[in-house]
Amino acid sequence: MMNPIKVDVQAAESFVPPSAWKEAHTQALEALYTLKEGRGAGNDFLGWLSLPKTITKLEITQIKEAADDLSRAVDVVVVIGIGGSYLGAKAVIEALSHSFQALLPQRERPLVLFAGQNLSEDYVSELLELMQGRSCSCVVISKSGTTMEPALAFRVIKKHIEEKYGKTEAVRRIAVVTDASQGILKRLSDGEGYRSFVIPNDVGGRFSVLTPVGLLPMAVAGVDIEALVAGACAQMTYCLEACLDNPALRYAAARNALHRQGKLVELLANYHPKLHYLTEWWKQLFGESEGKEGRGIFPAGVDFTTDLHSLGQYIQQGPRFLMETLISIAQAERNLHIEADTLDLDGLNYLSGKRIDECNKMAELGTLMAHVAGGVPNIRIEIPKLDAYHLGALLYFFEVACGISAYMLGVNPFDQAGVEAYKKNMLNLLGKC
Ligand code: PA5
Repeated sequence: MMNPIKVDVQAAESFVPPSAWKEAHTQALEALYTLKEGRGAGNDFLGWLSLPKTITKLEITQIKEAADDLSRAVDVVVVIGIGGSYLGAKAVIEALSHSFQALLPQRERPLVLFAGQNLSEDYVSELLELMQGRSCSCVVISKSGTTMEPALAFRVIKKHIEEKYGKTEAVRRIAVVTDASQGILKRLSDGEGYRSFVIPNDVGGRFSVLTPVGLLPMAVAGVDIEALVAGACAQMTYCLEACLDNPALRYAAARNALHRQGKLVELLANYHPKLHYLTEWWKQLFGESEGKEGRGIFPAGVDFTTDLHSLGQYIQQGPRFLMETLISIAQAERNLHIEADTLDLDGLNYLSGKRIDECNKMAELGTLMAHVAGGVPNIRIEIPKLDAYHLGALLYFFEVACGISAYMLGVNPFDQAGVEAYKKNMLNLLGKC
């Protein structure tokens, strides 16, 4: 079977001398071996590599049952978490939901809203306001169980739910995803008797989307998590294979080869607003995994065509330190043809009979050609359609590519010591003893 993920580096090739391409591929292959054989830095955090295969039917069933319990006769499920405990679920739910989900008069599943991903008083207050007149439940996710943002949000939302429904019913309406044995959240959860799920010890936050961290909120939102895991599972064959056709290896090699030619920033470009949070997830995955010891490709995101009318000018003619990676969806879900108009006052009749997606695709191709001509190399990643299976495939593909790429850069992909700096200052400033 053909791999549904296609990585095309043709529009990047002329930016790198052939010998440098070869060298990057050889190093990518070595990095893949290092990753697979667990010989690299952070090798006690490689559980994510086999997750799509090791997750059992029983675990999936338990996640779905919990999701159904939390959703029963509920309008809003608040999912609390930050970073890796937030972005994977947010990315998948946004990508697979109706663009105007919150405004639909009829919904089969509750609305999933997120909290604990910021410290904005307005955000939390307005969320509480929204929860007032609605039936709600909550999932709180934190591996460490000590992160300030989700801990604070949970304190507020737990109180709200307890006051509204009473202690006993609150226990039914709250679920926890955290470490198996450590952390304040674990202790709190055991004390209150909440239904809880475990984040495996050997899986770090930003690699945890295929654990209950991602799967429980997704199941609440009605995502087909079995298909998502199946898509990821199929990629294990392609992305762990030691050959130059391996898409993760090709992508990691290309971005590092370009980086060595002075491309310091990688823009992940999409042409579908639903993919905005996939880019946010990708930014965290690569940013937190690679940005250390003075190294790393800066991951940035652009939503096209929207951002062509804001950042397009800079990309086309600004300083030449950018590379672009395009996520292309071959087939749009919907089908909307442009109709002819008798008067043609807007002069758009030349488009009649075409689909809007065709215009989007031509914008995509035209932009790629323009950017390459302007000195921005392009890597093109294509998936056939935006569904759970292919999203699962894409998530796993990016995770493996990230592991390979970070090892090529010579850093440990699985730590994030730098994140502590702001936390330390904030806690000191807040007077924590
Ligand atoms: O990737 C990571 O490890 C981080 O982004 C964490 O997910 C994030 O800091 C949240 O941590 P925790 O789940 O411990 O609250």
